[in-house]
Amino acid sequence: MYVCVCKAVSDKELRQIIEGGARSAAEVERSCGAGGDCGSCVGEIEELLAIHQLTRPAISACGRHHRVAAAELSLAA
Ligand code: FES
Repeated sequence: MYVCVCKAVSDKELRQIIEGGARSAAEVERSCGAGGDCGSCVGEIEELLAIHQLTRPAISACGRHHRVAAAELSLAA
């Protein structure tokens, strides 16, 4: 499904760009152009960025890797 209609960028492409290291809507725009035209998709791009930040593997205080399921977070509700 296209998230950015202006630049024909899909949610799958955006996830790949974010997984590849993009950390802001500006970085996503530099990578593929999404969000750089009418701007109506920027909110959804920021939501994908936030979900990625909340669900990426992280090392906790106990030193083990954890992945928080988006469904467990209020953001996903
Ligand atoms: S829909 Fe993404 S810039 Fe217009």
